[in-house]
Amino acid sequence: MKIVDLRSDTVTKPSQEMWEALRSLDDSKIGDDVEGEDPTVNELEEKAAKVIGKEVALFVTSGTQGNLVSLLSQTNPGDEILLEELSHIYKNEVGSAARIGGLMIRTYPSIKGVPSFDQLQQLIRDKEDIHEPPTTLLSVENTHNYHGGVIIQPEVIKDMKKFSEKNDLKLHLDGARIFNAAVGLKVPVTEFTKHTDSVMFCLSKGLSCPVGSIVAGSKDFITTARRYRKMLGGGMRQAGIIASFGSIALEEKWIKRLEEDHKNAKLLYEGIESYDLPIKIHKPETNIVIVELMKKTRIFKIVTELGKEGVKSFNISKEKIRFVTHYGINEEDIQYSIQKIGKVLSSFLSK
Ligand SMILES: Cc1ncc(COP(=O)(O)O)c(C=O)c1O
Repeated sequence: MKIVDLRSDTVTKPSQEMWEALRSLDDSKIGDDVEGEDPTVNELEEKAAKVIGKEVALFVTSGTQGNLVSLLSQTNPGDEILLEELSHIYKNEVGSAARIGGLMIRTYPSIKGVPSFDQLQQLIRDKEDIHEPPTTLLSVENTHNYHGGVIIQPEVIKDMKKFSEKNDLKLHLDGARIFNAAVGLKVPVTEFTKHTDSVMFCLSKGLSCPVGSIVAGSKDFITTARRYRKMLGGGMRQAGIIASFGSIALEEKWIKRLEEDHKNAKLLYEGIESYDLPIKIHKPETNIVIVELMKKTRIFKIVTELGKEGVKSFNISKEKIRFVTHYGINEEDIQYSIQKIGKVLSSFLSK
């Protein structure tokens, strides 16, 4: 049976070029990365720093680890940090900021990831008051996963930086999918990153590497981040073997490939939208399509049934199903998915 896996852009397999990059490795191209001696990792980090527009970059095992080392490097235990209420760090990183970082987490509401600065200001603690923990970091997620892959505009990030400077905060960007934002708006990725103190982006999502993420920022920040990566067990030895895919992923043509995913997401949206069903379908800005059920239904059963029909998806809440397009998904897969989604949704929602 045909399977179209739209659960996430993390399910991708490497491209042929990536496999070739791996095959071209030999002893001279790998070394002990904990000692800074792996030429392939060093090459990837230099390239990543250049592409993302920061002084230095660091290869980490995952987005979750990258976010955590970024938070740990820019805060002290007992500080309070501001996270958007549906952000991945808050919802899906196992509370590591609290458990490992000793950080107080305060969430801020938003409209599709964009905060109200008046509301944010209300959340800033009074530094002079000895009873209060200091607020020291603000985080923004772009594109925003649970808001449906929406793009937070560069001007908003710029305003967040202004706000952060005024309130003596560091600004962290969870840019797991920041290249989707750049490609979606057709602007250089640096338009977003230039306003932030730290950025994390994933190689293992739309860029379709099998493993790894990048953290980037100033030299001092990365020196500290490197220590925390070691503390968290992310000091890998001959890591060039997994980093070799990353240099391909950061080629311009490979980043531009994300346009295909966005086009497929739009096709999927248009196909599902044509059904006359009690659903609200969120118009995609990048590679994520969210279908919201307007009728109380056991969403898990729908997702299971869709899987049986060969279309894999995730329910991200009691009402919302998420479909993510990625490398390896083509137009035919989308047409197949539209048909199956229509069949399954009709069987549940027309009853
Ligand atoms: C916005 C965002 N940040 C961070 C992560 C964490 O990445 P990883 O799965 O590599 O830990 C994800 C993963 O889905 C994500 O969507």
